[in-house]
Amino acid sequence: MPQLPCPRFVVTENAIGETCDVLIVGLCDDAPLSATVAAVDQATGGVISRLKDQGKLSSESGESMLIPGPGGDGPMLVLLMGLGEKSKLDREAAFTSTSTAVRSLVSKPHETWVIALPEWFDAADHDAIVAGALYGLEGQSIYRTKPSTYVPQTIAITGASKTAIDRGVVIGDSVNLARRLVNEPASVIYPASFAERAEALATEVGLGCEVWDETRLAEENCRAILAVGGGSDKPPRLVILRHNGGAEGEPPIAIVGKGVTFDSGGLSIKPSDGMVDMKCDMGGAATVIGTMHALAKLGVKKNVIGLCGLAENMVSGSSYKLGDVIVTRSGKTIEILNTDAEGRVVLSDTLDVAIQQQPTAMVDLATLTGACMVALGNEVAGLMTNNQSACDAVEGAAHAEGEPVWQLPMFELYDEKVKSKVADIKNIGEGRWGGAITAAKFLENFVGDVPWVHIDIAGPAFADSPKPHRDAGATGVMVRTLVRWVENQAEA
Ligand code: BES
Ligand code: MN
Ligand code: ZN
Repeated sequence: MPQLPCPRFVVTENAIGETCDVLIVGLCDDAPLSATVAAVDQATGGVISRLKDQGKLSSESGESMLIPGPGGDGPMLVLLMGLGEKSKLDREAAFTSTSTAVRSLVSKPHETWVIALPEWFDAADHDAIVAGALYGLEGQSIYRTKPSTYVPQTIAITGASKTAIDRGVVIGDSVNLARRLVNEPASVIYPASFAERAEALATEVGLGCEVWDETRLAEENCRAILAVGGGSDKPPRLVILRHNGGAEGEPPIAIVGKGVTFDSGGLSIKPSDGMVDMKCDMGGAATVIGTMHALAKLGVKKNVIGLCGLAENMVSGSSYKLGDVIVTRSGKTIEILNTDAEGRVVLSDTLDVAIQQQPTAMVDLATLTGACMVALGNEVAGLMTNNQSACDAVEGAAHAEGEPVWQLPMFELYDEKVKSKVADIKNIGEGRWGGAITAAKFLENFVGDVPWVHIDIAGPAFADSPKPHRDAGATGVMVRTLVRWVENQAEA
């Protein structure tokens, strides 16, 4: 597979005295020119202040202008990046505005960049500038024979610490890793190849890794995972990653991901329009990989297990069928009434394996329901929980990272909607109403007493259209949130 973008990041103190192809500086609505911009202004004979005085320069967030720089020992080009109101410059702005700036430059081969945005942001958010730069360099056009993105050789960051840069690189790489796994087509990423990637990565960064193949899944009574994968020529897998950053014997926290490497719907087959992006249905599992990668590389002092339930939902003579009853690993029985509600079936066994490790808290991520997109739109992840303080912790981490989430209720009155006439539960609710919640109610049957938060990322995991700060395709949503969520628990 093509490599992830990998420029060399360095620290510099001298933004304008450094020969480079392009210098990126910020402008704020309600603030005087920054020291760097003032220096560029002086070196270019006052061009910037003249543009500003004539009202030709916008400092609105997302707006930018590329002007010739002083050249010589300084930058050849200067990108003036609007940052909006100074009082709103938070971590999310650091990430997004850097990514936007980067994306406005990558169509041309600029080899050496200097990013002078840290002067506008808290030192604690400088890592988000670096992560945002990497984020802007990755996109979905990974199989274009002519590259549409020129990755610079060197990116110098002004006024940032080495620690911030190192952390930003880890976060950016980890989010891009999740994106790349999702953007790869289902012919490349299927359960066994996903598991191989996970193993290779685990070796590289020092994670424990166990892969259950179809034989082991049968021995472990993972009949639900096997049922969903039964229609495919590509057998299912379960991946268990371990990050032993905490004290020996300290109970772990668990992160579980839905890894349906392609969702055709199975016998309840999807129409072509609904199937076209279904390589993204392993987005939850990809988030687990990205997060575990970051935790290992950052050396977070906490024991964490990451589980990916991997299956391909296909149509064949061996597909699982409507009316089937599955005795899950937990012993609970599921009646299958729609083979397209497969994610919850895969997760039933995966969650059961996770709770056997007696985690103190558990999060699962899944591109689970179209209903969650109907409820919240395609940029917001849905949170559902059996434990309000666990949910508050995830919500707080998401808020700090600027990833939008919204909690949906889990009232007991929904419980009866997943009761089955022939088995313990059925895999769809009553009609389509409240579909995100009935899916979560189904999952709740498999989490025991563990404080658990379900994150439905069907909306934000994969984007139809590009935005200034990111390409269309995989977004790597929730990697940043989960890293912070774990770190917050490691500090406690
Ligand atoms: N993977 C889909 C959900 C999905 C839809 C994710 C669109 C991303 C974008 C899931 O397996 C599914 O098919 N869900 C069904 C459930 C229904 C049959 C109860 C849905 O949402 O329609
Ligand atoms: Mn489905
Ligand atoms: Zn699915």
